[in-house]
Amino acid sequence: PHSVDFLRALPKCEHHLHIEGSLSPALLFRLAAHNAITLPSHAVDVAYASIEALEARYRSFTSLDDFLDYYNRASAVLITRADFEALAYEYMKKAHADGIVHAEISFDLQTHTARGVSIDDVVHGLNDGLNKGRTDFGISFRLIMCILRHLPVSSSVGHMHLAKPFFDAGLIFGLGMCSTEKSQPPTKFRPVFDLAREFGIGHLTAHAGEEGPADYVRQALEELGVHRIDHGVRSLEEDEVVDMLVKRETLLTVCPLSNVCLQVKPRLEDVPLRELLERGVRFSLNSDDPAYFGGYLLENYVQVQRAFDFAPSDWRTIVANGIEGSWMPDEQKEKLI
Ligand code: ADE
Ligand code: ZN
Repeated sequence: PHSVDFLRALPKCEHHLHIEGSLSPALLFRLAAHNAITLPSHAVDVAYASIEALEARYRSFTSLDDFLDYYNRASAVLITRADFEALAYEYMKKAHADGIVHAEISFDLQTHTARGVSIDDVVHGLNDGLNKGRTDFGISFRLIMCILRHLPVSSSVGHMHLAKPFFDAGLIFGLGMCSTEKSQPPTKFRPVFDLAREFGIGHLTAHAGEEGPADYVRQALEELGVHRIDHGVRSLEEDEVVDMLVKRETLLTVCPLSNVCLQVKPRLEDVPLRELLERGVRFSLNSDDPAYFGGYLLENYVQVQRAFDFAPSDWRTIVANGIEGSWMPDEQKEKLI
């Protein structure tokens, strides 16, 4: 058994965090009032009756798509560059309290441009907040743009062109893919990842094997050429996919509390962490959408320890694999390991 202090002191890296997923009900109501945005009325959804009602609704998601409805709707309150800065800085404060040393943070561009928010305000706002967090807390970061699978491939391709100058300037570091997974095979999005390679974007990831089958993990690796898999917990359903992950030393960014909240797994004990460790599949622990899933990163570590009772050597492996699999300079890795 370890104390919370032991888990807080580990040099933790977070690789799978949607900044929109750190928008809490309290901040949602505050920004809605500030920006004069009308939330859905009682008649449409009673969940928006109060902060407490919304928090309660977030504790009863039935699936990824049920969650995504709330998550995508909540973005409506993010309007100005300052809103994105505030959101990012609030996350960095929380990351500092949790003992995170390095954070790789995703954002959804398409959701925001659909409301008429400019890419400048999104990317500069996020960078403002993250840079302030780096200065104040010494946390390094990378920004990852996630394309959205519920929208047409043409929308993602268009947004890649829109974002190219920001990739070129180093303001966006990596490319990811998220949103609904069922019936959205990775191969469908191959044109986007081919374009990323053409643009010289060297850090690619994709959500796969969360609700979708192990074959989607294989497709992401072999056909999209990603370097990392977000979630990937269903990989264990096919030995061939496990072998591929081990051989390539691919990092899975596993999100334990998320898996339980979205009913991907019935209980925390069913997230296959011990099996991944035993089979030599590298993974890190992540919070995904902490304002929705009942805890930030340290809470994920604490609840994992309560469920699995890992030995210190297991924690050393998990933390070292997280550092090794990070998109940070080698010199920084050497200092942390
Ligand atoms: N967008 C935000 N969180 C996500 C998740 N867990 N899976 C897919 N898309 C997401
Ligand atoms: Zn995610």
